[in-house]
Amino acid sequence: MGSESYQLLSKIATNDQHGENSPYFDGWKAYERNPFHPTKNPHGVIQMGLAENQLCFDLIEEWIKNNPKASICTLEGMHKFRDVANFQDYHGLPEFTSAMAKFMSKVRGGRVSFDPKRILMSGGATGANELIMFCLADEGDAFLVPTPYYPGFIRDLCWRTKVKLIPVHCDSSNNFKITREALEIAYKKAKENNINVKGLIITNPSNPLGTTLDKETLKSIVTFINEKTIHLVCDEIYAATVFTSPTYVSVSEVIQEMKCNLDLIHIIYSLSKDLGFPGFRVGIVYSYNDQVVSCGRKMSSFGLVSSQTQHMLASMLCDEEFVESFLLESSRRLSKRHEKFTKGLEEVKISRFPSNAGLFCWMNLKSLLKEETIEEELKLWHVIINEVKLNVSPGSSFNCCEVGWFRVCFANIDDETVEVALKRIRVFIGKETKKKVEQVKRWQPNLRLSFTSRRFDENVLSPHNHIIISPHSPLVRAT
Ligand SMILES: Cc1ncc(COP(=O)(O)O)c(C=O)c1O
Repeated sequence: MGSESYQLLSKIATNDQHGENSPYFDGWKAYERNPFHPTKNPHGVIQMGLAENQLCFDLIEEWIKNNPKASICTLEGMHKFRDVANFQDYHGLPEFTSAMAKFMSKVRGGRVSFDPKRILMSGGATGANELIMFCLADEGDAFLVPTPYYPGFIRDLCWRTKVKLIPVHCDSSNNFKITREALEIAYKKAKENNINVKGLIITNPSNPLGTTLDKETLKSIVTFINEKTIHLVCDEIYAATVFTSPTYVSVSEVIQEMKCNLDLIHIIYSLSKDLGFPGFRVGIVYSYNDQVVSCGRKMSSFGLVSSQTQHMLASMLCDEEFVESFLLESSRRLSKRHEKFTKGLEEVKISRFPSNAGLFCWMNLKSLLKEETIEEELKLWHVIINEVKLNVSPGSSFNCCEVGWFRVCFANIDDETVEVALKRIRVFIGKETKKKVEQVKRWQPNLRLSFTSRRFDENVLSPHNHIIISPHSPLVRAT
């Protein structure tokens, strides 16, 4: 193959810009080679690198059982088979787009409404993100993106469109806030390099931070893109994963309260996370720009949602009672799981970034790095994958500008597997702590471990030999 195939195939087919060589995807491969199973492979790798929401399948299954008419593959629903099998209009089934619009409004607290005519279908948020890039930017144009960001963006936003991403560096010194200053720095740098900035893409709630943007930050972002006359794409794929306060604020709410050019605002949505249906490939572009709606509709021919899926979801999402109770129960279960996992981390004094949403937690293992470099972060990540046998994702794969952070997903496994994962973490931290104590003893033979005489690495050891973060650390403590 090699050089021959390079000549035979296109540049897109042969370039390396899909991002699949990043550690984020390597971790998945390690899991696939040796997947954990409680009885068949109890020493296998536990998959904690997959942001999937598998906590409420029983509720969906119950609904399917009680609503056989919703499927064209049952005796009760088969009479719709021919109509549905034949349907291929890129406007979508009217009952589907209208149910989606209602659902999107419900998820956003009923404080905003959505026009079904502005809904464009796509193959998941993956396809939706690419589609909006094709509508807004040309080859070589750029989008600003605050760090840390979803690694799949490199594939989804750049690979086939040839759009560039310009990182807006955010760090833990101010809780990864997207400040006006950070936006200006990134924008200015792009301009100095003669790069045409077409927009800013944000993820709210954030993957990987698991936090929601407050109204003030959203307003300042909208003001920024208005002043520069660039687009704002808001990926709101995790909108219904908010499990505790503060309440979720969508950009759709903010633009109702301020003056702004609506032609610049676009929302990306999907049912992959909020309902836990990544396999259904239901992605949505919701644009306030008429021209984008018109050309995006044509482009959506390349990634329509199957009419069978539309048909079934139209019934499910129209069932207001079900939707209401599903959303409540889903966030209750996410909250419970989050608490269980983060308590486990606290017990071994691992700090994490405080979060209120998402299917993951942003864990800080900086104190375990020998040096603050990406190489050391990746070394530690290899130990976690190969020895601790947990597939977590290193911060560098999210383009985080600080080393030592790892994203750990907690909603794609069952309670028992969470226990096994926490046990492995406890054993690992115990060993690492022991190593550090021995090191300290070697360096300072006369050292006495007491509060008053403590004089060793801040951020490393507590008087009880636990790994801690210093009270002076800019890093956020576990809460
Ligand atoms: C922020 C973000 N956007 C988009 C996607 C892709 O989602 P989908 O499965 O709907 O294509 C993901 C998946 O993890 C994500 O985290």
